[in-house]
Amino acid sequence: MKKDSVNKKLNKIPTHLIVIFTAIIWIVPTLGLFITSLRPLPLINTTGWWTALEAPRGEKSYDAICASCHGSDGKALTTADLSDPELIKKYPRSNQLIPVLKQEYNGEPHLGDAAMPEVQEIADIAAYLKRVSGLDTSSRLTLNNYIDAIVGYRGTKTYVEDCATGQQSLDLKCTIEDVLNPRGMGRAFVNSIIVTLPATFLPILFAAFAGFAFSWLDFKGRSILFAILVGLQVVPLQMTLVPISRLYAQLGLNGSFLGVWLFHTGFGMPYAIYLMRNFLGGLPKDLFESAYLDGANHWTAFTKLAIPLAMPAISSLAIFQFLWVWNDLLVALVFLGGTTPVMTYQISNMVTSLGAGWHLLTAAAFLSILLPMIVFFAFQRYFVRGQLAGAVKG
Ligand code: HEC
Repeated sequence: MKKDSVNKKLNKIPTHLIVIFTAIIWIVPTLGLFITSLRPLPLINTTGWWTALEAPRGEKSYDAICASCHGSDGKALTTADLSDPELIKKYPRSNQLIPVLKQEYNGEPHLGDAAMPEVQEIADIAAYLKRVSGLDTSSRLTLNNYIDAIVGYRGTKTYVEDCATGQQSLDLKCTIEDVLNPRGMGRAFVNSIIVTLPATFLPILFAAFAGFAFSWLDFKGRSILFAILVGLQVVPLQMTLVPISRLYAQLGLNGSFLGVWLFHTGFGMPYAIYLMRNFLGGLPKDLFESAYLDGANHWTAFTKLAIPLAMPAISSLAIFQFLWVWNDLLVALVFLGGTTPVMTYQISNMVTSLGAGWHLLTAAAFLSILLPMIVFFAFQRYFVRGQLAGAVKG
């Protein structure tokens, strides 16, 4: 018995390792993206995101060389208070600091017995002193990338800086209205939600009706119709772009939310119906027969029996359809374009052909995975159960 349970545990080790490994290769880049999105552009351009987690450069060298006389807070020598911004102002860079370190005080070398640090180290110390004395107030982490992405700022500095100096760039007003600027991610977020919610709800609603009909109602041509529907799944979306956009042009639906909703509904339905039919058809027959015997009509059987039981299938469908519509660029580009930009469209516009603006891309990317992550974590219980929904055929 005991040996068995030990064996069982040992057998599980590879699985655990694989899970941990997968988690790491998922988490590390995500963390990197997240930290990068919080760093100011000059820092992003010069150092890697992992340095944001280290102690500021220069602190270690200062502690090792200078702290013995000047104290860890720089205040130990009253005649040379290194935390005083007035004093440090005179030594902004290594080339101002080097002569001081070579100077002699009371006939002794400045650094005493310690060896002269290298130029890079001195530069780091100078930067560190600027920070400690409060001369350098720029912070190592900032929300500017997020702000710039949300308002759609396209200048060379940051939105906050431009507004503070009164240099209003382009169409921005420096008021709260900018959150909904058509070129920004804020407006695009709203548009994405307006597109996604009905485009997720409608196909599932229709698929639930159809799935119920295909499994529990008797009508002529049922199996042929179902076979056609299953076959429709292989029609590539791209094939229909031209006919549908011509049809929409006649109906005046191009560039409207209704057009995108209908398109996504049409394309979501074949698979949704297929899954719902398989799931509902797999429920025990006696259940429905006794319900009908008790006087239930189709509507009550559908709402009181079928829908509650099909919840795992419905939620897994909802997650997949939601993610698909949320991440879709093609349909949004063709039918909404730049007039009503969604998040994917806005992100694709963020980086110029020269590669400028990719610091905004990090923030924009994070904004756009925010909602899917919330949805996923909120529904992950159903998600796992729902994954089995298609597999368990009754
Ligand atoms: C052996 C002790 C000692 C060490 C180590 C030391 N200092 Fe000093 N430092 C002094 C003394 C003494 C003065 C002179 C104070 C005075 O003006 O009376 C001074 C003065 C200074 C001043 C002020 C110069 C001015 O304008 O008056 C600066 C800046 C300074 N040190 C920077 C540093 C830095 C940076 C380090 C580390 C790389 C360092 N010191 C290490 C002893 C030391």
